[in-house]
Amino acid sequence: MSMPAPQPLVRCLAISKYFGGVKALDGVTLELYAGEVVALVGDNGAGKSTLVRILAGFYHPDQGELWFGQQRVDALSPRQARALGVETVHQHLLLCDNLGAAANVVLGQEPTVHRLGPLKFLDHRRGREEAARRLAEVGASISDLATPIRQLSGGQRQAIAIARALAASPRLVMFDEPTAALGSRQTEATLRLIRRVAERGVAALLISHNLDDVFAVADRIVALRHGRPVFNELAGNALRETVVAAMTGLLTERTVP
Ligand SMILES: Nc1ncnc2c1ncn2[C@@H]1O[C@H](COP(=O)(O)OP(=O)(O)O)[C@@H](O)[C@H]1O
Ligand SMILES: [Mg+2]
Repeated sequence: MSMPAPQPLVRCLAISKYFGGVKALDGVTLELYAGEVVALVGDNGAGKSTLVRILAGFYHPDQGELWFGQQRVDALSPRQARALGVETVHQHLLLCDNLGAAANVVLGQEPTVHRLGPLKFLDHRRGREEAARRLAEVGASISDLATPIRQLSGGQRQAIAIARALAASPRLVMFDEPTAALGSRQTEATLRLIRRVAERGVAALLISHNLDDVFAVADRIVALRHGRPVFNELAGNALRETVVAAMTGLLTERTVP
């Protein structure tokens, strides 16, 4: 008896998106699987952020279909995207600088003791424990969870953002240029975190300009050019020159399977 083929967690089918006369996405088909790190590459303006925003529910495609498992979703809202398990770790981290690591991890998701009408009573001790557990899970080493995080390094802050994304038990985590502001050691640590996120059975989508990062962590590489998917290969089968050629238009689209 053969195993059933794995089903993609998320599927974009021939998605197009226009901004006035600009075709930001032009027939993008992309399948994202549990446990896989997909790197999305492409020059500025290729459509990477537009695709991320569509998956997060901030933009709606003008054409094409969006599937989450067996469910086709039209007019996905940000709230619905989160309910479906989509989390984004932004390039500009949306963290509270004056709060500690623990507070940032559970911000807005603090365990409550009980509710009394409109009043919620937060369980701070349980919140701290939960945050510590999640930070340990992503391998973050932060000695004082109460220190305002503006005093922490870029890599530690990135780890907090990732632990925060994982607190929502996501199915898909999208990382938009997560290492752009990091030094080499912190970049390595962040790439390890992305790998760990995928190992938990999450689909990881990494947007990056940096092909060193991409080849270090990705299972599959997808390149966009002028909104069109021009490359989609397992990283192990991909040559750096070919990825660059696809991104820059030197690889003719006829040669793409
Ligand atoms: N909100 C917007 N309004 C108008 N044009 C946009 C908007 N967002 C993106 N674009 C255009 O869509 C194209 C793709 O942009 P983007 O998705 O940001 O590319 P990337 O993230 O790959 O650099 C670009 O031509 C960009 O100018
Ligand atoms: Mg962008």
